[in-house]
Amino acid sequence: MNHTNQSANVNSPATVQPDQPVSPNGAVKLAAQITDLTKHYVLKSETVKALRGISFEVPEGDYVAIMGPSGSGKSTLLNLLGCLDRPTSGNYVLGSSDVAHMSDDELSEVRASRIGFVFQSYNLIAQLSVVENIEVPLYYMGQLNAQSRKRSVQLATMVGLGERLGHRPPQLSGGQQQRVAIARSLVNDPYFILADEATGNLDSVTTEEILALFQRLNDEGRTIIMVTHEDDVSQHAKRVIWLKDGQVQSDESVTDRRVFSAEQVRKISQNAEVRT
Ligand SMILES: Nc1ncnc2c1ncn2[C@@H]1O[C@H](COP(=O)(O)OP(=O)(O)OP(=O)(O)O)[C@@H](O)[C@H]1O
Ligand SMILES: [Mg+2]
Repeated sequence: MNHTNQSANVNSPATVQPDQPVSPNGAVKLAAQITDLTKHYVLKSETVKALRGISFEVPEGDYVAIMGPSGSGKSTLLNLLGCLDRPTSGNYVLGSSDVAHMSDDELSEVRASRIGFVFQSYNLIAQLSVVENIEVPLYYMGQLNAQSRKRSVQLATMVGLGERLGHRPPQLSGGQQQRVAIARSLVNDPYFILADEATGNLDSVTTEEILALFQRLNDEGRTIIMVTHEDDVSQHAKRVIWLKDGQVQSDESVTDRRVFSAEQVRKISQNAEVRT
């Protein structure tokens, strides 16, 4: 991939994979579509143009890595995608809702109900158990009930923590804590998982475990958008969007994608469980 070629694939349409979901009229279903998005921060003495007209589509089932140098606008873009902030101009359609022009209340409703966040620092609540942490988004939506408890237990088991349901975050390893965060990100059936340097605090073995888990979720149809600084991590995605100075510099499929075999995914999950 050539990150320096300014003209390469700028704002090119998303790559359509053969196994992507299609709507009844045959069109590929989009998890997100952003068009000419800008974000300007107005300071006393100057205006910082953090995003200068970004457009791309994320089909359901895609696995996107967002990369770029410091200051290129990655966090700003992630905040907009995650409905934590509104753009200065442009459009953002999430699923079928126009979220670019929503009020703060509407935005937090969408955020709580349909976006799954995974952060570098896990952001778990130390006093709550594994299962209670997974339930937190449902608590904020007033949807805690027997059914939601069952779903949280299922998700904990799915990420290999079925034997650790009552443990609290300080009693877990970094990789285990990140797996709790991934389970939590899925509890509201999100349009996509938004991961911000999700493996940034982890050693290389644990990073592989988390990437294997992402691959499994993506193979099962989950859409993943992750910001990363690391080529080794981005090579596991299907597509890399490279930002520079608030613009898309390149948007390309990963040709030599690093894929774990089914056997490796199974082994890594097993190892993760053995180490728990
Ligand atoms: N709240 C803010 N007020 C003013 N300027 C901001 C604000 N947030 C970001 N910026 C500016 O916007 C530009 C993009 O910042 P952003 O944080 O999105 O970059 P980044 O690609 O995430 O960088 P890094 O890799 O260092 O995290 C930078 O020039 C930054 O200084
Ligand atoms: Mg950043």
